Amino acid sequence: GCSLCISLSKQLYCSSARRTRVRDALSSLETGSSIRIQGWVRSVRSQKNNLFLHVSDGSSLQPLQVVASSDLNTRELTFGCAVDIIGSLEKSPSKKQSVELQASHVKVIGECNPVDFPFKIKERHSLEYIRQYPHLRCRTNAFSSLLRIRSEATSAIHSYFRDNGFVQIHTPIITSNDCEGAGELFQVEPAGNEHSSDKENPHFFSVPSYLTVSGQLHLEVMAGAFPAVYTFGPTFRAENSQSRRHLAEFYMVEAEISFTESLEDLLKLMEDLLKTSTEHLLSHCAEDVELFHKYVSPGHREKVDLILKRKFNVISYTEAIDILKRSSQQFIYKPEWGCDLQTEHEKFLVKHCGDVPVFVTDYPYDLKPFYARDNQDQPQHTAAAVDLLVPIVGELCGGSLREERPELLKTRLAGAGLEETYAWYLQLREFGSVPHGGFGMGFERYLQCVLGVDNIKDTIPFARSSRSCLL
Ligand code: 4AD
Repeated sequence: GCSLCISLSKQLYCSSARRTRVRDALSSLETGSSIRIQGWVRSVRSQKNNLFLHVSDGSSLQPLQVVASSDLNTRELTFGCAVDIIGSLEKSPSKKQSVELQASHVKVIGECNPVDFPFKIKERHSLEYIRQYPHLRCRTNAFSSLLRIRSEATSAIHSYFRDNGFVQIHTPIITSNDCEGAGELFQVEPAGNEHSSDKENPHFFSVPSYLTVSGQLHLEVMAGAFPAVYTFGPTFRAENSQSRRHLAEFYMVEAEISFTESLEDLLKLMEDLLKTSTEHLLSHCAEDVELFHKYVSPGHREKVDLILKRKFNVISYTEAIDILKRSSQQFIYKPEWGCDLQTEHEKFLVKHCGDVPVFVTDYPYDLKPFYARDNQDQPQHTAAAVDLLVPIVGELCGGSLREERPELLKTRLAGAGLEETYAWYLQLREFGSVPHGGFGMGFERYLQCVLGVDNIKDTIPFARSSRSCLL
């Protein structure tokens, strides 16, 4: 053990040194002050009579350089260990950092065996490699940057809606509706409910209930009383896919606006949200975002600049199919009017538009759920629905105007045998109904798009997907 640390440990805790975050220490102008830093050692180097440590505490990508006497060099002081340090913050003689901490006391709080620790000093591990350690990956630079960015992006999105007069609605996680009708529901029942004593009605809520696939229908309820509402919460889909852009549990940002005049209102909102949030991230998390653009997705920064600077393209679904058909690209799925766009088609369309995001509007009526507004055009019957396609992921947002005309909605629900289930939804159209519409944006796909991250599992603290629910 380190006799110095142990003998001084009492003093360490009695010290009046101000507890300081690394981020604040790095930007501090008060050199000469006595501070206390608690964090994890990112590197240890000994030189002459000094020991140089880099200490991180999660508050910033850049670590704080700590200079200590090499008498302290102990077996416990290794890469990855947790430390509690007191010292004087001084101007650094090196050009690499403006300040450094000249330590008077260093205490190892938690040891870290560097042989067993999966991350190695000075090595840049791939996102794929660190993904194998969901309980430890937050200790790497890349993933701690990701988590700071994710946290800041959440704030940016909430600020955007607050600044634009939206009311946040906590839509329920457990629901009895299948908004999208795509059959990707996780059913909810108490564990062991198969032994329910009520054989007639074994459901906990009396009706089958599910984890939400979208808060849209609940937002539509609120659109009957507010001009603009949004929700931003966990969303669940039993997608049986191993793709790089699907999770079983993800976060969705959903907005609904009342008194819409055309689809254009929604396009404006999506474009503005995307640009404003991204600008915020680039200015508030510059260092963390740069780590991604430099080491994870070189060349991606230019695409982000296009998102910020260019006006997004708008094409109709029919035009999109024409473009795909006319291209010389060999697609796995042959593009045909009436078929859903596949990821390969979406990515092609974004490339075709010079890597500038593109809205695809007016999808075939039959492809869209019951709520989409009928364009009543013939013979190519379409709905006023839109997807926003972006680089890296393809579809980032999906939205539509909602069918507010009771007769049309009634006919469609009846055709799908849903009249009874959605009687309440139909009733919304009978009491002061207004034209309205909204969209959903996948939050993890948004992060993929801004950071250039190839696999969605690297944008969420704990990823859940089919056959994988670690921790
Ligand atoms: O296009 P989707 O299915 O739209 C809706 O759910 C509408 N009810 C939203 C609304 O109008 N309020 O989903 C919206 C977005 C997609 O564009 C995608 O970005 C994301 O949610 N998303 C997923 N993200 C990760 N994993 C999944 N399994 C996702 N499914 C959808």
